[in-house]
Amino acid sequence: MHPQFPPGFRFGMSTSAYQIEGAADSKGPSIWDTFTAAGGTVRHGQDGRVAIDHYHRYAEDIQLIADAGVQDYRFSFSWPRVLAGDVGFYDRLVDTIIGAGLRPVPTLYHWDLPQELEDAGGWMNRDTAHRLADYTGTLVSRLGDRVRDWITMNEMNVHTLYGYALADHAPARGLGLGALPAGHHQLLAHGLAVQVLRTHGARSVGVASQHFPVTPATETPEDVAAATLFSDLTNWTFSDPILLGDYPSEMIRAGAGTPDAQLDRDLELIKAPLDFYGVNYYEPTMIEAPRAGKDYSGVLEVDIPDGMPFSPVPVKSDERTDFGWAIVPSGLTEILVTLRDRYPTLPPVIITENGASFHDADPGPDGRVHDERRIAYLDAHLRAVADAITAGVRVDGYYVWSALDNFEWAAGFDERFGLIHVDFDTLQRTPKDSYYWYRDLIAAQPPQN
Ligand code: FCB
Repeated sequence: MHPQFPPGFRFGMSTSAYQIEGAADSKGPSIWDTFTAAGGTVRHGQDGRVAIDHYHRYAEDIQLIADAGVQDYRFSFSWPRVLAGDVGFYDRLVDTIIGAGLRPVPTLYHWDLPQELEDAGGWMNRDTAHRLADYTGTLVSRLGDRVRDWITMNEMNVHTLYGYALADHAPARGLGLGALPAGHHQLLAHGLAVQVLRTHGARSVGVASQHFPVTPATETPEDVAAATLFSDLTNWTFSDPILLGDYPSEMIRAGAGTPDAQLDRDLELIKAPLDFYGVNYYEPTMIEAPRAGKDYSGVLEVDIPDGMPFSPVPVKSDERTDFGWAIVPSGLTEILVTLRDRYPTLPPVIITENGASFHDADPGPDGRVHDERRIAYLDAHLRAVADAITAGVRVDGYYVWSALDNFEWAAGFDERFGLIHVDFDTLQRTPKDSYYWYRDLIAAQPPQN
């Protein structure tokens, strides 16, 4: 039997602009266009210039998503496309989504900063936050009559860590702890965007944050301190300001690079109440204090530079996705309970991303893609959400990452997260077995409100 959810629980699927749209010629360049063109940055030198050509195939894609019976579709706007004057695409997209019986849940910013803003300092420049507010105004004035739910920013923590602290994602700054101002300016952008959305009467506003339990490798004080610091930097730096109105430590406050009085004014704005809190979950993290002489390179997909006071080590797990990510469904229950306990102000949660990459075979002679491992992954994680609900956490929805196979950032097209298979040569779409399983699970729920 499928896991059961309370009446009114919303099911959805998620995507993001750079990963699916393509049509690079009709927009200005983003930091991801620059990063992918630099060479040696993405597996096989791949990029998102065509991606899965969603820009031209959106009508077919939206119909496929709607046919699964989901209520919500989360996608993101391409800021460089909007800057180039093409809001018309999102106008048509939103109409198509609504016409298919779905609720559009757009994200304003999912990592594809316009290159011209990067040239002016990117997220290290406070002014970028004000530019995001202007861009928010453009979108909400054009679409606010039809879009009810808005997500401001996607995973500010991952963007800051991979793109600014490390150099694994665009814009590849490699600043270490010097990246904290990039985090602060994104949080400020979130706060300003909420303000603009509210001014335009937006009914439901939230944010999408990646969260994960962080466990020390041993119970020694050194490992516990290293894990606490890592979790402060990657989890709580991006949720405490929103849900508590302050940073988790003095060190991080100071690192934000903003004079105290201004920082306090920023935090006032950043802590504005939200209607929902989006949680993206993939896997937990295990941290130890660096052991003298131990070589950590290659232990994980991302190398933390020498000299950092923490080292990620592989989580103990018997099962991994084909991306190498540990499969730990209980980590989702755990992080939801932790968020509820940490934040008395936590609004209803929506799982805005959860899913797995498996290197699925192309459709067989029967025309099907048999992805049992993805079904098992999603089933276990949905049960973990149901467990959190039983434990008293209010969770109002769950969106699978992703609707379609797409461009998985630095991993290129090797990693397939979709419920819908995409042949990257012909761009043909084929629903996988997991898509039909998800459709059946949704059909087996109590009636929606
Ligand atoms: C998340 C990103 C999303 C996708 C998944 C696999 O961190 O928000 O765009 O790449 O990981």
